[in-house]
Amino acid sequence: MSQEIQAYESENGSDAEPEATRRTAGDTESSRASRGWWDRNADEYQTDHGAFLGDDRFVWGPEGLDEADVRLLGPAGSLAGLDVLEIGAGAAQCSRWLAAQGARPVALDLSHRQLQHALRIDGGAFPLIEADAGALPFQDGSFDLACSAYGAVPFVADPVKVFREVRRVLRPGGRWVFSVTHPIRWAFPDEPGPEGLSVAASYFDRTPYVEQDENGDAVYVEHHRTLGDRVRDVVAGGFRLEDLVEPEWPAWNAQEWGGWSPLRGNLIPGTAIFVCVRD
Ligand SMILES: C[S@@+](CC[C@H](N)C(=O)[O-])C[C@H]1O[C@@H](n2cnc3c(N)ncnc32)[C@H](O)[C@@H]1O
Repeated sequence: MSQEIQAYESENGSDAEPEATRRTAGDTESSRASRGWWDRNADEYQTDHGAFLGDDRFVWGPEGLDEADVRLLGPAGSLAGLDVLEIGAGAAQCSRWLAAQGARPVALDLSHRQLQHALRIDGGAFPLIEADAGALPFQDGSFDLACSAYGAVPFVADPVKVFREVRRVLRPGGRWVFSVTHPIRWAFPDEPGPEGLSVAASYFDRTPYVEQDENGDAVYVEHHRTLGDRVRDVVAGGFRLEDLVEPEWPAWNAQEWGGWSPLRGNLIPGTAIFVCVRD
């Protein structure tokens, strides 16, 4: 665990539950909150979801849509030899799948503890980079492909800044494929049961969801964009949108993951996957 996180914990050692609210949260505050939250919660996240994710599968979200089946990154056989950047990689399960396809992955994440789980799984089979998606530490045109399964994009205040960075480090023709919470979910309570089926907030309210400590400092932030906002952000970031995939809940998947459940998944989409191209 980094020195910075140790300092945070000693300064904020209270057991008080954070307060959940909707309020503005800028770039710096969002990144700081994400880093702290994922460092503190990485162990629990991997314990709870590691088996479902698999050590070397590429799962796009709680529905369990598997890249091996849908091939949004490119046809079977086409990934061999490609330089691939995974953003918000967590324990780098997706990068491990990419490596098995013959690609050369680089797994980037803001959270030191998440990346330690990547090391735990394979001892460091490919580069692991601890950095913010809004300031990618790579030269222009370093990668053929970039991807992210729920990494970084839902948590940043300025997604266009991230997309411009991704565009910068991609070579012409490169794809940028990322998944996020489906925007419609923001209108409903984040509950897996029937209480999560009634509209409770405006879909058009972009105010971020923030959990804050007793000092008013954010400890967790998620940013809402409407579907139209996301499309406009992709275009503003310099990409062409090739596809927007809304995975349906499959019959085999009986598990709940937070507010994602078979009950809700059969009625409303839970994940949106954007397939973008850098022309
Ligand atoms: C929901 S997890 C997804 C991880 C992995 N893709 C998976 O499917 O398990 C979100 C990840 O995004 C990372 N993250 C959040 N904000 C980030 C940022 N600004 N830059 C880079 N990574 C970020 C978190 O540390 C966390 O590991």
